[in-house]
Amino acid sequence: MEIIKEDVIIIGGGMAGLRAAISAAEYDRNISVGIVSKLYPLRSHSVSAEGGTGAVLNPEDSFDLHAFDTIKGSDYLADQDAVERFVRIVPEQIYTTDHWGCPWSRNQDGMISQRDFGGMSFPRATFAADKTGFHVMQTLFSRCMKYDNIHFYNEYFVTSLIISGNSFNALTSIRLRNGEFTIFQGKSLIFAAGGAGRLYQFSTYAHSVTGDGDAIAFRAGLPLKDMEFIQFHPTGLVPSGILITEAARGEGGYLVNGKGERFMEKYAPTKLEKAPRDIVSRAIMWEIEAGRGVTGKYGNAPYINLDLRHMADILEEKLPMITEIARKFNDIDAATEFIPIRPATHYTMGGISVGLNTETEVPGIFGAGENVAISIHGANRLGSNSTNECLAFGNVAGRMAAEWARSHDQPDLERSRAEAEEKRIWDELLNRNGGEDIARIAEDLRITMDSDVGVFRNGPDLVEAMKKIKSIEDRYRKITLVDKSSVFNLELTRALEVGFMIDLAEIIAKGALMRKESRGAHYRKDFPERDDANFLKHTIARYTKGGVQLEYTPVTITKWKPAPRVY
Ligand code: FUM
Repeated sequence: MEIIKEDVIIIGGGMAGLRAAISAAEYDRNISVGIVSKLYPLRSHSVSAEGGTGAVLNPEDSFDLHAFDTIKGSDYLADQDAVERFVRIVPEQIYTTDHWGCPWSRNQDGMISQRDFGGMSFPRATFAADKTGFHVMQTLFSRCMKYDNIHFYNEYFVTSLIISGNSFNALTSIRLRNGEFTIFQGKSLIFAAGGAGRLYQFSTYAHSVTGDGDAIAFRAGLPLKDMEFIQFHPTGLVPSGILITEAARGEGGYLVNGKGERFMEKYAPTKLEKAPRDIVSRAIMWEIEAGRGVTGKYGNAPYINLDLRHMADILEEKLPMITEIARKFNDIDAATEFIPIRPATHYTMGGISVGLNTETEVPGIFGAGENVAISIHGANRLGSNSTNECLAFGNVAGRMAAEWARSHDQPDLERSRAEAEEKRIWDELLNRNGGEDIARIAEDLRITMDSDVGVFRNGPDLVEAMKKIKSIEDRYRKITLVDKSSVFNLELTRALEVGFMIDLAEIIAKGALMRKESRGAHYRKDFPERDDANFLKHTIARYTKGGVQLEYTPVTITKWKPAPRVY
């Protein structure tokens, strides 16, 4: 067992993690920062963010407008104090990354360009063509190189969090290169490990996005908030699920059904294709259910067409990546042909419950980005409100964790618990011998989530989902791992990931079953209305030995009273 000590430990090398690292490292050059990631940072899913990041940069825009758009978009489940803080601290991050070299797209006059995004009442999405995540990540990663107090621990797979006496004690991990069981200790910890979208089959997410951070925190006793709210992005490319950016509609793209009709006027008469994602995704699914989908060329499931043909002149400059994706993956020329799309999982609104300063319930443990619910997205995140969150609250988390580290000591390792975890993995999990195949289990889990906990939900399906998840959990106890080696044992890490996802699937399905209303991305066909009297509240999921326990906490309302949500 190897033990590595840093002052601040960050789990996750994506956008929130890198931003937090820079912030902590800058706060005090004598503080050491360790970024622990199962990937190389530039393989993090953050690099695939495409269309833009919202920020109030234009004097005609305002913080109140950005806040209101976000809160209405959240179907009033966002905590309004968090949103008010968020919109104010974002613009500085755009200018900071600009000064660090991020190639933000610019207007003729040299000002940073901004474009329209769904549910926003002002074109405030700042972008770097449609490769925003890639360019921001390159910028942050290069910036990290400037600090010799930032240390990267790439390809370490974190398996558990040890909390001792209500403070951070250690992370346990496997070094993938040689299987060495490695302990990370720090004075403070930041969760920045991303979302959980690969619980679903048809998804815009990288296969690495398996909710590790959420599950590790949950098992260690940290509560998860609002996990039932899963975002479906309207335009996942059929059949691969690759993201076709919302900026395509922001720049003027249309959605067209199998009869060749634009249909969004029925569902969002004012905003049309620029309505929020939950509304557009449901509209697509209603069209498909009504038999107005397109069938034929791309498998059995019907889809809808995205029409960019009238925008041929801007594709290469403003949407080069999706143009290339359509060509390379579907052999489609977006300038002359439709792009086939269908809603795909894209974002986990819920996550570890954190306060306004990114603090968790356990002093010294913080969190930022998709791994946490602060909560500014409530029941539905607006497009372009994710990468800005990673930058803004990553910055806060880094500062908070560094401040904590400056005034606290390294804890003594709870060695017996670390050793128990080592045994759980190498002696117990690796030697299970019930004959069940981990890949098959993972697939069955994803199919269950797609079919029973998807865009449309209802009581009987959710009950069925809970049963299926239980039976998947039983089968998981009987897996056989064929690969017994310690060098890059990806079957073993897959098994760990699937274990995490089973826990999260149960939390999501249970939260969805108990929330007997429709709000944002959570749409119950058996309870189609929002019910503020009973459900204007956050769902909090806690780990107990007897299973997931749900409780509810109030939503913070400052100045925007819940109102009907029409676009
Ligand atoms: O469609 C997109 O470009 C995604 C943006 C986002 O999720 O914020």
